[in-house]
Amino acid sequence: MIQQEITTPITVLAYDELSPEQRRLVDLAREYTGHSYAPYSHFCVGAAIRLGNGEIVCGANQENAAYPSGTCAERSACYSAGARFPGVGIESIAIAARGTDGQFTPLPCAPCGACRQALLEYETLAGHDVEVLLVGRESVYRLPSIKSLLPLAFTEIG
Ligand code: THU
Repeated sequence: MIQQEITTPITVLAYDELSPEQRRLVDLAREYTGHSYAPYSHFCVGAAIRLGNGEIVCGANQENAAYPSGTCAERSACYSAGARFPGVGIESIAIAARGTDGQFTPLPCAPCGACRQALLEYETLAGHDVEVLLVGRESVYRLPSIKSLLPLAFTEIG
């Protein structure tokens, strides 16, 4: 029998420990919580993606009266990036959320399973790790890659 362990490395950073580039992405993810359309959950999520060509593409969750038809912020952002800049790899993504009280969540909000799967495919297409910044009220969790969020992932193209 072989026993293996999977670990997820997380660096906890204060806002002033971030690089200017990271701050810009974090600021935009926070700002885009204001672009959320969430009349059903009142949970507003924003995402900002930096691409290999220097462009930043943002997204926000968009809900629908037919509930499953809505889209999370992360997929809104990565699908928009793919449509606007086809073939350009993702470098980094920041995600922020405001809860039903309208305040930024005290702890960082992590992407749902479907978003992890979607983002993993863009990481594979990029051919390198994609930095993940999960934004909380007081601190930011930095993860080195999407696959660190989704170990043992299903993949057809990798
Ligand atoms: N949501 C996101 O935008 N990203 C996630 O990773 C988790 C959930 C959205 C979906 C829905 O509009 C609301 O948050 C409540 O689940």
